[in-house]
Amino acid sequence: MQAQAKKPHTGVTGGSSGIGAAVVQLLLDRGHLVTVFDLQVPADPNIVFEQVDVADEASVVRAVEAATARSGTVTGLVTCHGVRGEFVSALELDLGRMRRLIDVHVIGTLSVAREIVRRLAGRSASIVTVSSTTAYGGWVNQADYGTAKAALRQLTENLAIEWAPLAVRVNSVAPGFTMTAMVADMVAAGYDLNPAKARTPLGRLATADEVAGSIVHLLCDASFVTGQCLAVDGGWTAVGK
Ligand SMILES: NC(=O)c1ccc[n+]([C@@H]2O[C@H](COP(=O)([O-])OP(=O)(O)OC[C@H]3O[C@@H](n4cnc5c(N)ncnc54)[C@H](O)[C@@H]3O)[C@@H](O)[C@H]2O)c1
Repeated sequence: MQAQAKKPHTGVTGGSSGIGAAVVQLLLDRGHLVTVFDLQVPADPNIVFEQVDVADEASVVRAVEAATARSGTVTGLVTCHGVRGEFVSALELDLGRMRRLIDVHVIGTLSVAREIVRRLAGRSASIVTVSSTTAYGGWVNQADYGTAKAALRQLTENLAIEWAPLAVRVNSVAPGFTMTAMVADMVAAGYDLNPAKARTPLGRLATADEVAGSIVHLLCDASFVTGQCLAVDGGWTAVGK
């Protein structure tokens, strides 16, 4: 009898909601073992889950150790966790909240990624981070979120270069506005999406499934791509100034 190929074990931070939850579904469909790392419990009780605050290093170490002990070495990682910005001018930003936001998006991504790379023991791996179109150019009232997302793009390039000799690819996607709980929360707080739709060449928001498809492509199929950030934005970043 032929030995069965071992299923890849992939971690998804923020996998309990939105884009992360869509990534989890696509990976399960492809036969991956998936561990969700999130603050909130997934709606589906069959999803394998480790509760973690990505901004808390001890919590990250514990969660990655537990996932590795349960399902084996994690050789794929998608970092879909995130929180929205305050949507106020730089003059009004609460610096404590901005520090927390940068901790979650940027340092949290590095923290999870390096705990996984530290445990690879010679295996190859692939990582996809999630940036944003707010990482391109200046945006009004986005000094907190846009700065964090631009830092993530840069971090992705740095990690790609450092970890290429370890056979670890690191890429990023930069979604445009995508209909998830995060955007629903923005709308509830008074954010008008119509100007964004009008500015987008494809004339609409993305779905979580569309963004997840590009993430899974970079994670699983793009074997000679590393250090890249793919805008999944309906043409937003292609518009001339
Ligand atoms: N929705 C959009 O329009 C959009 C656009 C560009 C980029 N993004 C980015 O895509 C990613 C996913 O966003 P989404 O729209 O699916 O949001 P979402 O709110 O639906 O999901 C975010 C998930 O992150 C988790 N999370 C938040 N803080 C955490 C922490 N400290 N530790 C662990 N988990 C934590 C939440 O519990 C939640 O499950 C985020 O990085 C977001 O910034 C979203």
